[in-house]
Amino acid sequence: MFETLPALSPDPILGLSAAFKLDNNPKKIDLGVGVYKDEHGNTPILKAVSQAQAVLQERESSKVYITPQGHQGYIDGMLNLLLGEGSSVLKDKRVAAVQAPGGCGALRILAELLVRVNKDTVVWVSDPTWANHMPLLGDAGLTLKTYPYFDKDSASIKFDEMMDCLKGVKKGDVVLLHGCCHNPTGADLTNEQWDALAALAVKNGFLPFVDVAYQGFGDGLEEDAYGLRLLAESVDELVVAASCSKNFGLYRERVGLAAILTKDEKTASIAQSQIQSVARGIYSMPPSYGGALVDIILADEALRNVWQTEVAEMRDRMITLRKLLVDNLVNQGVDKDFSFVNQQKGMFSFLCIAPEQVQHLRQEHSVYFVDSSRVNIAGISLANVEVLAKAIADTLKA
Ligand code: LMR
Repeated sequence: MFETLPALSPDPILGLSAAFKLDNNPKKIDLGVGVYKDEHGNTPILKAVSQAQAVLQERESSKVYITPQGHQGYIDGMLNLLLGEGSSVLKDKRVAAVQAPGGCGALRILAELLVRVNKDTVVWVSDPTWANHMPLLGDAGLTLKTYPYFDKDSASIKFDEMMDCLKGVKKGDVVLLHGCCHNPTGADLTNEQWDALAALAVKNGFLPFVDVAYQGFGDGLEEDAYGLRLLAESVDELVVAASCSKNFGLYRERVGLAAILTKDEKTASIAQSQIQSVARGIYSMPPSYGGALVDIILADEALRNVWQTEVAEMRDRMITLRKLLVDNLVNQGVDKDFSFVNQQKGMFSFLCIAPEQVQHLRQEHSVYFVDSSRVNIAGISLANVEVLAKAIADTLKA
């Protein structure tokens, strides 16, 4: 019976890794999938994670099931990290949350929950947004619409157009926002823009849905939570999907958090029962290991400091690589002004070049990145930046 299904093209992001592996060019450069890499192109296990693994090895005495909500210590630690220690929402117990299998798992179970609330729910996503937002939310049954976000010509956010569009969004519609380090553009709202957006959410009554996958990679762990925390303190209801893949380097362990902020404690307990039943109906309970590691790191002051230092090192390295790329492009004499790359935040930048130019870079220079022109900044190194800049310069002339 399965022959009736059409074969699908490779995933626009994950498919790049497979194509890269098959390329025999020794000078090939991988700027595709969003994983952090060091100067040697490796994605090492963070020191804080290694130390937590040793602790867990000693501490874990059973592999019996955990619960549908996951490790409560992990959930509490993550909520503090996201919402801030002094969060009134936490004090008032207005939160329902579960450990989820990665940020993707969190997005999907929140989408399923929104469908339970209203099967006709419309979710507004930024144009552009992360390619996987569409299947994660859309396949759950939500209707997706886009709001203007990024202008490729000026390489900047179209804030006025975005606000004009969101002014027309109905009460009860959902607006998906990237908490920081917008994927794919790297273009983030300023704090003043978050202020205006939060005021609009209060006035118009749309439900903000904040996806936080890169906390700490933009300006800092606290700074990157500005928009989320402001919204959490401003509106009655909010949903949050978070991921520990990048900032804890726990990609393959699938560690995420799905949280729902409700208008009061009673509603939070209803939401808690619902979200656990959604999880039970899809995967029953999350994998234990990664959440247990994050719990150990966040609960231990010394380990937490080690981790915070490592997050700062990753962030600083990506800021340095941005500058290196822009300087090398200037040295190659390109006409296009790429200085916007230095203003963008986190792991990704949009180079704002045409899809044909992205194809040219792949075919002629073995430089791999997403057709939208999104590059993984962490894939740049001292060793490859000049080759990369030359390839881009050649492509722009072609
Ligand atoms: C990315 O955007 O490259 C990462 O989040 C990996 C993925 O699953 O797409």
